[in-house]
Amino acid sequence: MFEVTDRDGLARLGVLETPHGRVSTPALLPVVNPNQPLIPPKDIASRFGAEILITNAYILGKGALREEVLRQGVHGLLDFPGAVMTDSGAFQSHVYGDVEVSNADVIEFQKAIRSDLGTMLDLFSEPEHPLARAAADVDETIRRAREAASLKGGLALVGAVQGGLHEDLRERCAREVSSLDIAVAAIGGVVPLMEAYRFRDLVRVIVASKKGLDPSKPVHLFGAGHPLVFPLAALLGCDLLDSAAYAKYARDGRMLFPDGTRRAAEMRASGCACPVCSAHGMAEIARQERLLAEHNLHVSFAAVREVRRAIAAGEIWELAERRARAHPALLDALRELRHHNDFLEASEPLSRPGAMYYVGPETAHRPILHRLRRRLLERYAAPAARGLLVLPEGGRPYSERYRAVVARCLAAADVHPVVKSLWGPVPLELDHVWPLSQSLIPEAPDPEALEAAEVFFRQWAAGAGFAFGVLWEDEATLEELRSRAPGPRDVDWNLLRTRATADLQFGRGAADALLRGNVSYVVSRNTGKIRNVIADGEHVLSLRAEDGFFTLKAAGAVRLRRAFPFPRLRVVVDPDAVPFHREGKNVFAKFVKDADADLRPGDEALVVSPDDELCAVARTAMNRREMLAFRRGVAAFVREGVPPPSSAPPR
Ligand code: GUN
Ligand code: ZN
Repeated sequence: MFEVTDRDGLARLGVLETPHGRVSTPALLPVVNPNQPLIPPKDIASRFGAEILITNAYILGKGALREEVLRQGVHGLLDFPGAVMTDSGAFQSHVYGDVEVSNADVIEFQKAIRSDLGTMLDLFSEPEHPLARAAADVDETIRRAREAASLKGGLALVGAVQGGLHEDLRERCAREVSSLDIAVAAIGGVVPLMEAYRFRDLVRVIVASKKGLDPSKPVHLFGAGHPLVFPLAALLGCDLLDSAAYAKYARDGRMLFPDGTRRAAEMRASGCACPVCSAHGMAEIARQERLLAEHNLHVSFAAVREVRRAIAAGEIWELAERRARAHPALLDALRELRHHNDFLEASEPLSRPGAMYYVGPETAHRPILHRLRRRLLERYAAPAARGLLVLPEGGRPYSERYRAVVARCLAAADVHPVVKSLWGPVPLELDHVWPLSQSLIPEAPDPEALEAAEVFFRQWAAGAGFAFGVLWEDEATLEELRSRAPGPRDVDWNLLRTRATADLQFGRGAADALLRGNVSYVVSRNTGKIRNVIADGEHVLSLRAEDGFFTLKAAGAVRLRRAFPFPRLRVVVDPDAVPFHREGKNVFAKFVKDADADLRPGDEALVVSPDDELCAVARTAMNRREMLAFRRGVAAFVREGVPPPSSAPPR
């Protein structure tokens, strides 16, 4: 069983339960060659903290160790206390052209040696295989996956996803294989891509596979052993990685680092903080394969820990963007990501803790900013004004920084202020929304980033309904504005902010529904900012200081339910669960019947019965696809239960 404990977009922290203990993910599985283990598996557990390793059932089954492993089991043979995953020989068929076992044989053998996770015998699709061949091999891989599922008994099965570089095949294979009773879905056929540093193709293959995979199952990336790719693999939702690299590179006299590989004999100092490098001189390390392997393993585990830290902190994008600077091929892979933004965006949270850091021109293409720009086009309705006052990027929050300029311009002209920010256009009334007010950008951004900002701005301004736009420069701008659209323009900033934020967050029309009637505000005495929004005496919304979005109150939910047709903004739950949510209990994924496909993790949602009776207001932890797939974990955290209509106090 797999449980996700935290997430950052597609990246997740999880726990995989096995008969030999719980495995925290993302996890690195060191590859142990049963014939010549370079570091004893017992040490890999005790000194490196490995909870799981991977070895090869095909090698065990055909070699001298066959009888021994059948007698002792794979844990006894290796003398490893943690979980053991076994592979099937598909990779050997890639290397040697063929293998001498059948799918059924290899499944039976993995059952017999009591493997914790046993892999089917998939057909390895090479990147250069044309569509027809890859399609035939995928058909056979799917057939074998079904056969393996029927034979597996108590074995926790690893199903493999093949299909070469053909994205439709990858998605189909992933969908078919993950619909079976498998414990782990493994993306295969990628070693040739990684060996050739074809990371851009790797991104395409992982994304295409993830589109078809059941999001509730852990995903293994076969052969991803170089720490260079860990951040990117985790960012795309890979939970298990395996590494033969630590041993292979050691044999070749090379050392792994988070930013690449170096030849030990050519270094005077490793600059590394691992126990090996702390205790031994460089010359000594370079002479000993064992020390090289240990260093490589330390660095690899540290890289996985760093990935986990980043996921927990909501910083996996920052880590991946920074690490991409280590190799130009990784930079190409990073730039590939924007072409998959529609898919990536569906798993992005509403906001993240802390600030968003500019890493490079790629940052503006993150899926969360893609979403912001799209929602601005689709959900935001600009207020009526003749022209646009375009303010340059500058100190944040923009409304404070530009307070005096805006006051003078509005006294003179009928214009609406909007900032041409590096992330795209920011109507001034939305400057508090995450990450617009919490971004750290350089004073002199890359020209490519400035060009992109220009394009984003034009895309929006062209359809925003203003007769003209004037960039604020100096006093002369004031005169120009006055002559083109004489003012003044009176603005209720609280109302404008509330309306724009509500429409951006819940969809166009939400502001009309939520603010119907007489609107008043509770304003913070310290900051002067809106805290609560009251409509006709009902507390409908609270504005969060952390991310500038609203917390939805029950009275607001009632209004949204009336204004938006089923199932919009809803999480639909099993009727049996309704009384629990009315009392404030969380929504477990297991009880979700349906949900709005536009909901994102962190969104405010209406919890309703199948006949659309409102029973709670909640903050989601998953999107629709995940809610419907997971059998474990919380789909939405209930903020407020709503009593049944009959028990409402009389008015
Ligand atoms: N090891 C590396 N690549 C693969 C693969 O595609 N399939 C299997 N089963 N094992 C692998
Ligand atoms: Zn070291």
